Amino acid sequence: MVKDNLSSAAITDNLKTRFVGQRVIYYPRLTSTMNVARREARQGAVEGTVVVAGEQTAGKGRVKRAWLSPRGSIALSVILHPDTACLPGLIMLSSLAAARSIEAVTALEAQVKWPNDILVNGKKVCGILLESDWRGKRVTYAIIGIGINVNFRLADFPGILPAATSLADELGKDVSRLDLVRALLTEMERLYRALPDGDAIYREWRARLVTLGRKVRVESGKTILEGIAESVARDGSLLLRHPDGSSTQIVAGDVRLRDDE
Ligand code: BTN
Repeated sequence: MVKDNLSSAAITDNLKTRFVGQRVIYYPRLTSTMNVARREARQGAVEGTVVVAGEQTAGKGRVKRAWLSPRGSIALSVILHPDTACLPGLIMLSSLAAARSIEAVTALEAQVKWPNDILVNGKKVCGILLESDWRGKRVTYAIIGIGINVNFRLADFPGILPAATSLADELGKDVSRLDLVRALLTEMERLYRALPDGDAIYREWRARLVTLGRKVRVESGKTILEGIAESVARDGSLLLRHPDGSSTQIVAGDVRLRDDE
């Protein structure tokens, strides 16, 4: 039997962090951890507060999509108070923390699809949603929402994209969500504290991107662009080279790798 108790006490017990995960609010079932985290952040929650759900009934994905989080998944949101200059780094740190912790707990190889999807064997296993609140030019809080498909079988959810998978599907056995959450929170804090001089974070994130050098189709708002994903800048934006030689710098978008189609 894997350790799968996601209670606040089990997560915080002897967790080797200073602040990330030192306060955990656990719900067996709720709409979305983002909603609760936002309310907590507005009420002045301490930095590093984590909202975890055993199951979400209205999980939110990027670009207003729904995110499926049935029982057996990990759904959590972490409240941070970053300096404005560190905000782009949150995308990199959250995907690296997810990739590193998945690798540490499962020994599967995890890759990053720009900007912050985590893939295992070419299929999406984890999605990350970033939200920030500003007062003038200052970030009042940021919330990192992380969803990982862990102990459920994608075959039981035929509505989900074929390009998705779960850790249990890839491993053929269940994984300890508790070990994975604790590893994830520990990695997040380690990387967050390294963020002010975050060149190493940028370089590791760039090295893990499966996107670079590939033919891609990017949906950015209502625009669809195609080309080769040439490079990523220090602020996390993607440089797309079009067939006519021109280029576009993309700050946010949804990438599909074309050579897989
Ligand atoms: C994506 O579309 O790839 C991002 C998915 C983010 C899902 C996580 S699960 C925890 C948190 N709560 C939500 O409702 N969404 C994020």
